[in-house]
Parts: sequence; C-alpha cells; structure tokens
Amino acid sequence: MPRFYITTPIYYVNDYPHIGHAYCTVCADFFARYHRLKGDATYFLTGTDEHGQKVEKSAAKEGVTPRQLADRVVERYHELWRRLGITHDDFIRTTEERHERGVLAVLKRLQEAGDVYKASYQGPYCAGCEAFFLEKDLRDGKCPDFGHPVAVLEEESYFFRLSKYQEPLLKLYAERPDFVLPESRMNEVRSFVESGLKDLSISRSSITWGIPFPGDPGHVLYVWLDALSNYVSALGFGSEEEARYRTYWPADLHLIGKDILRFHAVYWPAFLMSAGLPLPRHVFGHGWWMKDASKMSKSFGNIVDPRPYLEEFGADAVRYFLLREKPIGTDGSFSDEAFLDRFNADLANDLGNLASRLSNLLESQAGGRVGRGDGSLRARTFEALDAYHAAQGLFAPREALEALWALLSDLNKFLVEREPWKRAGTPEALDALSEAARSLRLAALALEPAMPGAARRIQDALGFGPTDFVNARWEDRPSGRAAKLAGLFPRVDKREYFGRIREGGTATRRNGGKEGTMEDEKKPERQPAPPQAPAAAPADPPGEPAKLSIDEFRRVELRAGRILEAERVPKSNKLVRLIVDFGTERRQIVAGIGKKYAPEQLTGKTCPFVCNLQPAKLMGVESNGMIMAGNLEGEPVLLQFLEEVPPGSRIT
Ligand code: MSP
Repeated sequence: MPRFYITTPIYYVNDYPHIGHAYCTVCADFFARYHRLKGDATYFLTGTDEHGQKVEKSAAKEGVTPRQLADRVVERYHELWRRLGITHDDFIRTTEERHERGVLAVLKRLQEAGDVYKASYQGPYCAGCEAFFLEKDLRDGKCPDFGHPVAVLEEESYFFRLSKYQEPLLKLYAERPDFVLPESRMNEVRSFVESGLKDLSISRSSITWGIPFPGDPGHVLYVWLDALSNYVSALGFGSEEEARYRTYWPADLHLIGKDILRFHAVYWPAFLMSAGLPLPRHVFGHGWWMKDASKMSKSFGNIVDPRPYLEEFGADAVRYFLLREKPIGTDGSFSDEAFLDRFNADLANDLGNLASRLSNLLESQAGGRVGRGDGSLRARTFEALDAYHAAQGLFAPREALEALWALLSDLNKFLVEREPWKRAGTPEALDALSEAARSLRLAALALEPAMPGAARRIQDALGFGPTDFVNARWEDRPSGRAAKLAGLFPRVDKREYFGRIREGGTATRRNGGKEGTMEDEKKPERQPAPPQAPAAAPADPPGEPAKLSIDEFRRVELRAGRILEAERVPKSNKLVRLIVDFGTERRQIVAGIGKKYAPEQLTGKTCPFVCNLQPAKLMGVESNGMIMAGNLEGEPVLLQFLEEVPPGSRIT
C-alpha cells in the first residue's frame, strides 16, 4: 500500500500561534487528508520545539521555568489544532523522553561516522536565530535572515563536519531537482551550498535549556540538531520499537516556511547522510503571510490571531481562505476585506447557493431521489478532478481548489442553461438535477481535505454516504434521499461587519484585533468585584469643562518616535501609514495627515506620539498609536522638538 509521511515544523513555545503557523499546519492537514482519502497509509506529524535560548529567554522574562512556559504554550497549539480540525497522527514535544532518545541515537551515528569533533569557535552569533554566521554572509553587519544584531561570541563547541557534505549535497540537488520545492527555492539552496560550507557548531555551553551533550554535561545540543531529529524520533528511531520508523521513514514531505529552508535542505540531509539514514523525498518551503501587505510582527502590533475568525466564520472558511488565497510558494496578504470577499463570492455564492438550490430542487421536485442522469457532466467532472489530483501531486492547494471552483462555475451555468425549475417533473429536469448532483457530490469529496465539515454536509444533503477516491464512482447509487441544505455559508454583510469591528462590539474584535499576550494567560478569569466601590471623584462644577488631575494626565503615554517609513494608505487621500521607531520597538501607526503632508516629508522626522491608545483600524489598516498634531483652521500641524531627542524618550 502506498504510504505518505508528512511533517510540519515543530513550533517554538515562546509565543502565541498565529495565522502563519496555522497556515503550514492547515496545508499539511490538507495533504494528509487527501492521501488518506486516496487510501495511502498516511502519517502526519506536528509538534513543538521546546529547547534553546529563545524559550529560555522568554521563560525568564515571564518569571517561569522553560518547562512551565512550554507546558502552558503547548496547550495553545493543541487547542488551535483542535479548532482548525487538524488530523495529525502524532504530536511530538522535544522535551519528551522518546525524543531525547532519538536525538542521541542520531548524534551517536554522526560520532561513529567520525563527523563530530571539539574545537574553539569564534564568530558573529545571532541570538534571535540561535546561529553563528560567517562574516561574509552578514547583511549590513546584521544577521542575514532577519536583520537581528549579532555579537562576536567565542565558545568551545562540538562541530559537525558539514564541509565534508558540500559535494554530496550538490550531487543530491543535481540528481533530485525536486528535493527542494518550489524550484526557485532549490536555486537558493544550491547557491548557498556552492558558496562554501563550513563545519557547523552543534553544541552550546552558554545555555542550559537543552539536551545535555553525552559525556560533556557543560554543553547542551544545538537546538536545530535537537529539533530536526524530531522527524525520526517521533517514529521511534533510537528506541526498541522502531516499527513505525521502518514503515514511514523517509518522509515524503517536510512542509516548512521559506525562512527555515537552510536547516532542512542543507543541514538535515547532511546529518542524515552522515548517519547513514535515507533522505526525505521533498522539502517544501512555503511563502509567508503578511498583514495588509506588511510583514507581521509583534512590534507592529499586526499579528493575525486566527481564533476570532474561527469563532465567527468556522474552521471550514478559515481553512479555505488560507489554502485558496495565495499560491503556496509565494507570500500573500491577509486582510479582512480579502477574507470577506472570498467568503461571499466563493463560499456563500458559488458553493453554498449551488448546494442549497440543488438539494432543494431535488427534494421538492424529485422526492429527494438522484437518478442515473444522462452522463452529460461526467467528462467535465473527471477533467476537473484530474486537474485537482495533478495539483495535489504538486503540493499546490490553491490550484487544486481552483480546479474545483472552475467545475462549480460550470455546474452553476449548466443549471441556468437547463432551467430544471421551469420543467419540474419532466425526465429532462430530473436528468439535469441528477447530473449536477453526481458532479457536485464528487467535487465535494475532493473538497473534503480543505473543508471537511461542509464537504460532508453537501454529500449528505445530496443523499450520498461517506466514500473515498478508491471507491467513489460516477454511477454510485445514493444511500439515502437528498434534502434541502440551507445556511451552509450565510452571506456576510460587509458594511455591518466592518461597522461592528469599528465599534469593537463583536467576538471577532473584542480584543481590538490585537494578538493575545502571555499576560492574558496569567490573569485570573475575572476579578471579583471590589468589596466597596471606590470613592467617587468630586463632581465638576456645572458649566466648566472637566479638569484633569496630573495623575490622570500622566496616564497618557506620550513618547518621541522617529518615523522610519511613510506611505499612503491605498484608496485614501488622508491616511498615511507610518512605521515608527520607539527605541525598543517599532510600531505601525496610521495618521490622518496625508492631505497636508506627503510621505517623503515625514520620513526621518521625530515627533511626539500617544503610545497607549487602544489599537484601531483605519481603512482596514491597524494603527497602534497616534501622532500628535495641532489643528489650524482644519489643517493638521505636526509638532516637533527643539532639540534632538532619542526615539522612545518619554514625554509624560
Ligand atoms: N522551531 C523552528 C522549527 C524547527 S523544525 C525542525 C521554528 N519555529 S517557529 O515557530 O518560529 O516557526 C514555525 C513555522 O512557522 C516556520 O515554518 C515559519 O516559516 C512559519 N511562519 C512563521 N511566521 C509565518 C508567517 N507570517 N507566514 C507563514 N508562515 C510563517 O522556526
């Protein structure tokens, strides 16, 4: 029986899962469900990466142990995967004993191959990426991946002879050009290896939160050697029970984000070659989600939390949007506007209306019976399914769904042409309805990996029981009667939705669209009401404007911020989107000063900003603060400082 082993990256437990994390896992779930429906022996692994400096640091900041932090955050992942309908077969945590056993078994093989030695190492080290870089790879003296600052670090360390694998890796890429997908990423990886590989430090003595290096407890294993080994440790590699490892390894697909390609396409195969283990079939580096065309980042306050969307629209809609909106290999932008457009056009209209109209007509005109039909949609349906299967084979969710939507569009046209509602009860009408139902039923089966809930409901509503790709036939007899399916994806009134968001009165935006923070988790559910109401402030004398106490005024957090970037908000002549440096953080702030000031006039200026306003959305763009401006006869006037002030300086 064909088998399919698919993995996601294991996620760091130093923060909340966001839409980017959800994306990778939803895509992996889409592929895993598809292979199960094809009858392949499928194994889908995800998990959490719990060791290393990032987690150690975040835990210290929170005042908890790394283990406590991991235990708390891992629950967030379990919860999100449950709500998204993720069907992983296993969830590995790198703090589990089975994992440590697997990692040490990998390391032992590297040592036995003579590929591990101890030496002193000095070089630029990026704490953010937990990696040493070569001087030549730095970008403007900063880490090439994220622009984090680097510091020269000297450490005694164990090294892996990565340099020895430069040629074997290049040979691998030449012999198996689809080892790395998409093709453009293969080219990046190849150039990286061609530019020369140095031996890789695989231990750290500066941190303690990790797997102790065997025989040298002053060192812990480098977090990436630890983390990458999860793909085999979860299968029981290194334990007495290696049956699962023997069944599923090598992996068919490591699905990862483009930022961690080097680890998976260079280091991991080199480790495996050294260990004498088979290599995975494909490593796919998917593109990233941005928010309203900007990079998502905590400091911009624009990280998209999938939970409110799940609450309001359900798992099927969120999964569909993620899979359909952007090609998997490239970056894409998440926005409420795009989400609602897809929801209304593709789900409410194309799919929902079709399913409801068809099931309704079948029920009312044919007593719920789907007949044999006249075969007129058969070829078109299989043509669409072939395109769908081909896209699945290329790991292309968007294209797979496009093939199905092209079919839905043809089904809608077919019904409009045949107008069965005008010829109720005639054999022609029954044929038309039966054809459309048979076609939609097979489309719904193919939709299952993307939208398991809706897909099953549609098949049920057409009177067909569960099936899979092996058993489904065009001529299958329905197992029951068709019955009207209503309210599958009720259309969203965009105006009402955005109005609600502006007022912050919906579940979706109760938190102002702001990502949850670790702080939320520490807060008790709800503070009991204080035993006594605080003494009321003295009332203002009638007729006089209210006066603020100095303490009240100080609650406004005014700071100096330096405008790093400014650009117009599309479709607005007033709004400008600013990226503002406050010393320790950067924020996105939207200002209504665009009629008076051009973006070029703003870049580089240091101005006062209100920093503790609740986040707000202006024309769909999130703003995390407000620039201070006077109002002179209706025109904004920016304030500036007489002297140079460092960004972030507190004014109140
Ligand atoms: N722990 C490592 C992976 C070890 S795998 C052996 C790690 N974790 S992570 O939590 O930082 O990232 C996990 C995945 O999320 C990565 O594949 C990364 O590309 C992905 N994403 C993080 N932000 C993303 C977007 N904005 N969009 C899409 N995916 C993104 O790296």
